Formats: sequence, C-alpha cells, structure tokens
Amino acid sequence: MSDNKKRLAVFCSGTGSNFKALFHAIIERELPAEIVLCLSNRAECGAMDFAKEYGIEAIHLSESQFDSHDEFASAMLEALRNRQIDMILLAGYLRKIPDAVIAAYPEKIVNIHPSLLPEFGGHGMYGIRVHEAVIASGETRSGATVHFVNEEYDKGRIIKQNHVPVLPEDTPESLAERVLRCEHRLYPDALEQLLDEQMP
Ligand code: GRF
Repeated sequence: MSDNKKRLAVFCSGTGSNFKALFHAIIERELPAEIVLCLSNRAECGAMDFAKEYGIEAIHLSESQFDSHDEFASAMLEALRNRQIDMILLAGYLRKIPDAVIAAYPEKIVNIHPSLLPEFGGHGMYGIRVHEAVIASGETRSGATVHFVNEEYDKGRIIKQNHVPVLPEDTPESLAERVLRCEHRLYPDALEQLLDEQMP
C-alpha cells in the first residue's frame, strides 16, 4: 500500500460501540491505520449499519452459509487476503475464530474482553455473565483487557488493561456500562500502542 497505513478488519456481532470508538479515534488521533472491512456473523446489526453509513465495506460471513467448517475458514481467509488485511480487531464478535485464520495471522488478531483477564474469561464468559460473576465474587475492581487471540478463549498475550471500581450498589448492568466506557478508551489506546510498536 502506498500510504503505509495498516489495513484493519473489525469483526463484530452486535452494537459495535467499540468499533465506533476505534473508527473515531483513528481519525481524531491521525493513527496510521484504516478500517477497510467490517465482518459480521449477523447480516444486520448496529456494527453493520455503522460500517455502511461510513462507507466501510461490510460483509456478512457466517458458518451457516457453508457446508463445512473448513469451507467457512477458507472463505474468511480469502476475504482477508483479498483485501490485504494487516490486523484484525474483534469488537464484540461472538464467534470463535477458525484455527486456520489464527495460524495465518499470528499476533495480528486482537480482542477486547470486559474483565481483568485472566479473571472472568474463558468459554461462555461473555456479556452480562462476566459482570454477574464479578459482582458475585465480591471483587472491588473490574475492568477491561485487550489481548492477542490464540486458539484458547481469552488466553492470548495481554496487550493492555484498564480497571474500574466495583461499587457496593452496582448491578451487573451498571457495572457493564462503566466497563464499556472504559473499553472505549482502552481499545484505541491499545491500537495506538500496537501501531507504534509495529511501525518501521
Ligand atoms: C464488549 O463488552 C466487549 O468487551 C465484548 O463485547 C462487548 C461488545 O460491545 N467483547 P460493542 O458491540 O462493542 O458495543
């Protein structure tokens, strides 16, 4: 690419508020990156709407469209290679990334998780369940983690974390809101750090 910007794909399944935060931060901070693809396992969701509104290519790719997992993985790889994607940011993507894709993009796939990993992560730990578990444990601190994606759920190397307090009056919902606001600052900061590290 002539302008030396990293070409990013963002994978989403839902509202895409982290996607929006990343998109705006790239512009405001003039980061050397461009989101060129939004990939979702859902044909319609807030993230897909946002991508279309801002002229970002949006593609719906779901395992149910294919006869086998291998065909699905190949289609995902082809979509990424055709667009010369350098880095993949998972932002509320609620599906496991095929191992073949992880192997093709070592330390190039990043996720954000709404807890202080390694606590409250792993298979089935997503959404409001994370915050219910934090409150049930009596922790006084929670937060968010940006980490590399490997073959194990939420186990890849941690890139950056930020914490928030858990207040005595918190419900899972109120804690979820506080953590999400923390995520919207953390993910752009982590991306900026990664770009700094990776730029020649
Ligand atoms: C966030 O809490 C993120 O940590 C998790 O899914 C949620 C996504 O929210 N992976 P959004 O779609 O970015 O609003």
